[in-house]
Amino acid sequence: MKKVLITGGAGFVGRRFVKFFLEKRYKVIVVDNIAPLTGGIDPKKGWPLFNPYDFKNFKFYKEDCRIWFKKYNDKEIDYALHLAAMVGGRQIIEDNPLIVADDLSIDSHYWQWAKINRPKKNICFSSSACYPIKFQTKNNYKLLKENDINFNKDLSVPDLTYGWSKLTSEYLAKIAYEKHGLKSVCYRPFSGYGEDQDLSYPFPSICKRVLYNKDKTNLTVWGSGYQMRDFIYIDDCVNAVIKTMDKINNADALNLSNGKFLNFKNFAKKAANIVGYDPNIKGTTNKPEGVFARAGCTKKQKKIGIINKISLSEGINRTLNFISKKM
Ligand SMILES: NC(=O)c1ccc[n+]([C@@H]2O[C@H](COP(=O)([O-])OP(=O)(O)OC[C@H]3O[C@@H](n4cnc5c(N)ncnc54)[C@H](O)[C@@H]3O)[C@@H](O)[C@H]2O)c1
Repeated sequence: MKKVLITGGAGFVGRRFVKFFLEKRYKVIVVDNIAPLTGGIDPKKGWPLFNPYDFKNFKFYKEDCRIWFKKYNDKEIDYALHLAAMVGGRQIIEDNPLIVADDLSIDSHYWQWAKINRPKKNICFSSSACYPIKFQTKNNYKLLKENDINFNKDLSVPDLTYGWSKLTSEYLAKIAYEKHGLKSVCYRPFSGYGEDQDLSYPFPSICKRVLYNKDKTNLTVWGSGYQMRDFIYIDDCVNAVIKTMDKINNADALNLSNGKFLNFKNFAKKAANIVGYDPNIKGTTNKPEGVFARAGCTKKQKKIGIINKISLSEGINRTLNFISKKM
């Protein structure tokens, strides 16, 4: 039986990979301490979209992966998906930068374990937050290209401690390949969203607000509301990873994006229109908005064969349906 290790597998992205590999009949080992402030959900409390305990090939360790790495060696891992991270919505990234900086330690422990155990493939979750913020301002923004980050020259400041740790994680992956021959690929998801995402993220929280305020005259979004993101439905991210994870071995990075800038005001308006009303959308100045504009170039993804399937309207519909069933 093939084996996959998924750190952070009880989180929003991880749960989807767990399902995929369980259905493929891999032995799936999940290590996740269900860290506070993250989107992690204890499988014993029930995952929103499926029950992993329906599968005999599911093994769950509720443990900090840094401790797990010290206790367990396994030299027969086919794929190691390293997703464990202290991450959350904008407020966590801005208000808890030192908690987020734990990612530096999580990643360094991961690579030391990987050096000894040599998974056949290391699949690393970086982030679009590692891109230079100088290309994401009101007066200077563009679609971010993979080679805007070049470890051999001109590295530039990324987005807070989250960006620094993800940038460092990519550097570690590169070193692990060059010095130790560990095969890996680094993914840079943009704003992944989906039905069961934690409400600290903008997509589900705006959808929820749209539903709860139906027919009101005004609706609020965080920040000025003019900040722009590149939203991508999480199943498109997962499918893109599955399709490409065997194609890159040298720790090279790939965006997971749609290549479209969408501001929060327009997003909220579109969601409200789908629900059937047309409110005035207002910003909330005491809430953080992060960088002004972040979206990812899709050229390299297209070249490697990625085709995203879920349109924004479809993604909004799915999220609204999911939330409205819980109301
Ligand atoms: N969701 C997105 O759009 C997105 C965008 C960019 C990058 N990413 C990256 O993808 C990965 C998964 O993100 P997500 O959205 O699923 O976040 P999430 O918060 O839902 O999941 C992260 C998981 O990591 C676990 N974790 C944290 N510290 C741990 C530790 N020390 N040991 C074991 N587990 C630990 C948490 O309990 C949680 O279950 C992260 O590395 C994140 O940085 C996600």
